[in-house]
Amino acid sequence: MTSAEFGGMTVHAAATPGAEVIEGLRAWAIPGRPAEFPYSLVLGHLRSVGKHFLEAELLVLLDEIRRSVAESEGRDRPSFLHRFLDVVLDKHDDRYDYPSYTALSLLTRPAPADRHEALRARDDLVLLLLADLVRFEGRASTGTPDVPHDMPPTPELVAKRARLAVRVMEPAALRALPSGVVDAAAVAAVPGRTPSGPLAAEILRAAAPEQALALSASVQPVYVLHDEYLFLRTLQSFETTFTFMSSALGLAVRRLDDDRPRESADLVGAVADVLKESLPLFSLLATMRPEAFQTFRTFTEGASAIQSAGYKTFESLCSTPGLARLASSAYTSVPPVRERVLNGQPTVQGTWHALITAHRLDPADDAALRAAADRLESVHQRWKQTHYRLAVRMIGERSGTGYTQGVPYLAAVLDNRLFPAPDRHGALVG
Ligand code: HEM
Repeated sequence: MTSAEFGGMTVHAAATPGAEVIEGLRAWAIPGRPAEFPYSLVLGHLRSVGKHFLEAELLVLLDEIRRSVAESEGRDRPSFLHRFLDVVLDKHDDRYDYPSYTALSLLTRPAPADRHEALRARDDLVLLLLADLVRFEGRASTGTPDVPHDMPPTPELVAKRARLAVRVMEPAALRALPSGVVDAAAVAAVPGRTPSGPLAAEILRAAAPEQALALSASVQPVYVLHDEYLFLRTLQSFETTFTFMSSALGLAVRRLDDDRPRESADLVGAVADVLKESLPLFSLLATMRPEAFQTFRTFTEGASAIQSAGYKTFESLCSTPGLARLASSAYTSVPPVRERVLNGQPTVQGTWHALITAHRLDPADDAALRAAADRLESVHQRWKQTHYRLAVRMIGERSGTGYTQGVPYLAAVLDNRLFPAPDRHGALVG
């Protein structure tokens, strides 16, 4: 068995037979053994057969282990091991969905209240996710590729992916890493040229053991194709960005309410900037081979980003979605977010208009808010258009894994606006 070391954690890189995993788990489960759960053994096997194809005997054993872990825990948040087992067993439990597919419970935490700390948390995690992707892709060109490794990429494709990942990493690295790791002047001149290998190695070397564990545990592909790793890391990077966007927009609403409209405009502008920086993630994902995607998506039925609570949270913090959209699968797929909206969640646009009506907003502040909202609107329109084109390329006329018609659904939502003009307010379609 080959393995790669980073952040003090050994990540199993090659296939582990099911019988060896069962033996390892039984040995670990002997009462009184204080050893660390054999995560890498389980992951090495899972990634070599695909989560959809885990053997019944192994699933039953993991379920038993989860039960005994749950019994030994208090009533607080479930432990990391418990959450890990929930992700491994989502299909077995018949609870499989987008959050469990992307293992979000292992990666994301509520964003810190302070906006700078929230951005820092986003940057740190996006850097780790993409550094790990660069590492994984790089190993495909060696004699000891990591699992999953069916349909390996060509060295040219690996190099292209690394360049595109670096485009998203550079702005975050300039904010979050010690100065000198990335050359700011070179990035300003030509973005995307920072050597990917040393940058990724530096980020992974500095990862704390618990970060390395979360990073490794959060790749649980349903099948055995190399490109699914890219798909998972791209979704997770967007989700991490949506978490920041939601927290900054929530703060923007509170600042408006406190009569601090300039700070609110700054926050909306920061949200636009981060989404803009993240757009090359779509170019990165566009390098996924459609034939690989069409093969592994057979086993992702029921998991779709239409269930992304992060995306719907940031959308519904801009303005209250119209009734048709709230009644459609756009929001019935995210019940807690829908509930918050129905309970009257305040929004940037609603609070902003209330200030105007109450004559509490001076024209210069109104103009600053308008400029920031327009920027966010236009980046979000680009996000939706790029997503739409990617879906056309990847699935054509096939239906979505979130049970919509697929591309026609995405075409219909292009007309929606985050900040609809007053006469169009409430006119969002599903
Ligand atoms: C291969 C790439 C992708 C394809 C083929 C694709 C396809 C689709 C389809 C067909 C839908 C409609 C819902 C359904 O039936 O599933 C959808 C919704 C959605 N997708 Fe994607 N998608 C892709 C990548 C992404 C990525 C990387 C993200 C980032 C998180 C994302 C975020 C979303 C969101 C937020 C929705 C809900 C939009 C709404 O309800 O207005 N998608 N996608």
